[in-house]
Amino acid sequence: DSIFKDDIAKIIIPERVLQNRIEELGGEITSSYQHGEEVVMVCILRGAVMFMADLSQQINLPVIFDFMDVSSYGVATESSGVVRIIKDLEENIENRHVLIVEDIMDTGKTLKYVVDMLQTRNPASIKIATLLDKPERRVVKQINADFNGFEIPDEFVVGYGLDFAERYRNLPFIGVLKKELYS
Ligand code: PRP
Ligand code: MN
Ligand code: MG
Repeated sequence: DSIFKDDIAKIIIPERVLQNRIEELGGEITSSYQHGEEVVMVCILRGAVMFMADLSQQINLPVIFDFMDVSSYGVATESSGVVRIIKDLEENIENRHVLIVEDIMDTGKTLKYVVDMLQTRNPASIKIATLLDKPERRVVKQINADFNGFEIPDEFVVGYGLDFAERYRNLPFIGVLKKELYS
């Protein structure tokens, strides 16, 4: 029995459903590039780690792994839009195809910042793959994922990379956290 079982109100995306969709996304992503084209996958730490690992195995192209850690100033539960780089890429992305990998698009501020910043480095292309999208929460309207796994309602979700106070990232499914744990 999972020690986190009592903390989860309901499972909204079970492991099997998650993995099937990721397999589909990998196929869509593969088809969207030229045969054999190299893609630099940029994982936004830390939430996107699980998705990066599983999605990359479903992409039939030469893939390079890179990681970026960004942090928004201000209150921990809400991103302020003022973002700073904690850890930058190792790769030079000029004239290369970049695929940004994110666990969730919420307000859109994190992705907007990352896309704008990477664009200044003149990559051949930038695409965005998100596992989850919460459209009701969107503040930045000029940003959309090229590939998205699931649209979800505005509920506090954890698991498969997503945390509450750094916990629950290792759950293999997406679940809704019980309200009494964060309110
Ligand atoms: C979360 C999530 C996204 C971002 C989405 O990351 O993983 O990166 O917020 O929010 P936004 O669309 O409103 O910008 P967080 O900053 O909590 O860091 P973490 O990935 O390390 O948990
Ligand atoms: Mn994140
Ligand atoms: Mg977080």
